[in-house]
Amino acid sequence: MIAVVFHHLDFLKSFLEGRWTIMPPVSGEMWRQTAKSFGCTHYISIDVDKTDYEHNDEEILHEKYDTLDDVLEKYKDKTIVFLESSNNLPSDVSHYTLQEFQHPKDDVLYVFGHEYSGLNFDKIDLTLPNRYVVTVETIHPAGMWSVVAGGIVLYDKMTKDNK
Ligand SMILES: C[S@@+](CC[C@H](N)C(=O)[O-])C[C@H]1O[C@@H](n2cnc3c(N)ncnc32)[C@H](O)[C@@H]1O
Repeated sequence: MIAVVFHHLDFLKSFLEGRWTIMPPVSGEMWRQTAKSFGCTHYISIDVDKTDYEHNDEEILHEKYDTLDDVLEKYKDKTIVFLESSNNLPSDVSHYTLQEFQHPKDDVLYVFGHEYSGLNFDKIDLTLPNRYVVTVETIHPAGMWSVVAGGIVLYDKMTKDNK
């Protein structure tokens, strides 16, 4: 199993509420195509906005959960890699840069944070085995859209796996 876990937001709702002037594409579809391109077996959404997003893609499984805790409980035997930008990481959280990180070949979930608030490290138990925090080095500290960071991380995994 190779999975991405993302917070699924209803961008149309944000657009209609006037929070954006242009409407970005639906995050579920961006994740489905990105994760599939790099060989993920699953794309797992935390359905923050209670969307009606479903997709029956036979090449990649979609699972939907209410909270990140539900995902972590279900996959407690897997390796979990939490992704966060360095400016959103509490100073006491030890982490790897993507450049130095050695990816697990299989049985791994890559967990991305909420687009507005990121990951809440106060609620994540990093003392459990097989849990890692990784940050993608960037020139400017502005956090990327999670799916963009996801594409970079999965590309990095592919190139290191193939060495
Ligand atoms: C838009 S970011 C959240 C940014 C947050 N609002 C802030 O102000 O810092 C959403 C998610 O994308 C991922 N992400 C974005 N930039 C990243 C980076 N440089 N390295 C690793 N993950 C990143 C993380 O999972 C993050 O929680």
